[in-house]
Amino acid sequence: MSLPRFALEDWVAAHKKSCRYSMGSSDVEPVTIGELFDGADAQTRRLWSETTLSYGDSRGSALLREHVAALYDTLGADDVHTFNGATEAVFALINVLVEPGSEVVVVGPTYQLLTDLPAAAGATVRRVDLRAEDGWTLDMDALAAAVTDRTAVVVINFPNNPTGATLTPARFDDVVELTRRADARLVSDEVYRGLDPAGVPLPAAADRGPHCISIGSVSKVYGLPGARIGWVASSDRDLLDRLRTYRYWTSLGNNAAGEVFAVCGLRRSRALLGRARNLVTANAARLAEFVAARSEHLAHTPARAGTVAMVELRHHGATALATRMAREHSVWAVPSGVLHLPDTHLRVGLGRATLDRTLEALDECLSEP
Ligand SMILES: Cc1ncc(COP(=O)(O)O)c(C=O)c1O
Repeated sequence: MSLPRFALEDWVAAHKKSCRYSMGSSDVEPVTIGELFDGADAQTRRLWSETTLSYGDSRGSALLREHVAALYDTLGADDVHTFNGATEAVFALINVLVEPGSEVVVVGPTYQLLTDLPAAAGATVRRVDLRAEDGWTLDMDALAAAVTDRTAVVVINFPNNPTGATLTPARFDDVVELTRRADARLVSDEVYRGLDPAGVPLPAAADRGPHCISIGSVSKVYGLPGARIGWVASSDRDLLDRLRTYRYWTSLGNNAAGEVFAVCGLRRSRALLGRARNLVTANAARLAEFVAARSEHLAHTPARAGTVAMVELRHHGATALATRMAREHSVWAVPSGVLHLPDTHLRVGLGRATLDRTLEALDECLSEP
């Protein structure tokens, strides 16, 4: 498999180290190990000291998989296969589902992994894009026109990175039904699920039948990206078995310490999600106010869910502006050019405690041509 450059990760690697503040992060403020264990119950603390650093179950420990399964209405531990982050989960899943010549429809824009891996696996990829002028809403007619009886897989990502878009539960079910009729798999990357400010939780694909597959992770809304624990959830046991075989050839299993961190985070999910919701809600309001006060330069459709929003720059190229913010203000931002979109937007992370500091930097850069 020949993999392309990962433009976003290249950009982040080039700027993150030299910058003090992040405007571009898609995860909420990461939790320290101390914070995680300070609030842990006695059983979790015992788990930490008694966990043996042996090879574990390739699917992830039964305890971890039980905690993940509890996030779904209809699944048990054997309907979950965990991986080293959603990154490895997507990698394994696409390689198991896609072969050269497969037809894959991807709703974009989204994380580059989801569009470029199917292509690297030899699929013909058709993109159906959310558009800024539609307020980043899904054009269901365009999706229905793109999905045919030759379509093997439809990939979606709601709450969406980078737009902050989401689906109503009814629209989500329309997508489930469309894929069922086409006899296609639905791969739903739900790593931003759990932060639905409107209060209507998005259903999970894996609860909608064996042709639907959920991807999840503790990285984003739980603030535990360094635990490197993600998963595939599906009631299709045969698929999970194929994933396990695939895994024997890649990483064999999870990092034992990461599993304990993830169990601890999921046991405290209410507190961690509350923390994330407070940060994101306050930052979304702050960003809306900032954009409204600078409407000659900026526009945006507020994020409907998840941890990121796109801000449109009316007069500045995004890459040039982000480069200046990094060089002169020690702030790294994500320009839409590195997301393979027109270079007109910045992706703004809503989960960081330092948003105000980064908006000051943006403000100064906007006043220069
Ligand atoms: C949509 C999406 N899927 C997957 C990932 C990877 O997540 P993880 O840290 O669990 O590997 C990201 C990270 O930005 C993402 O935005």
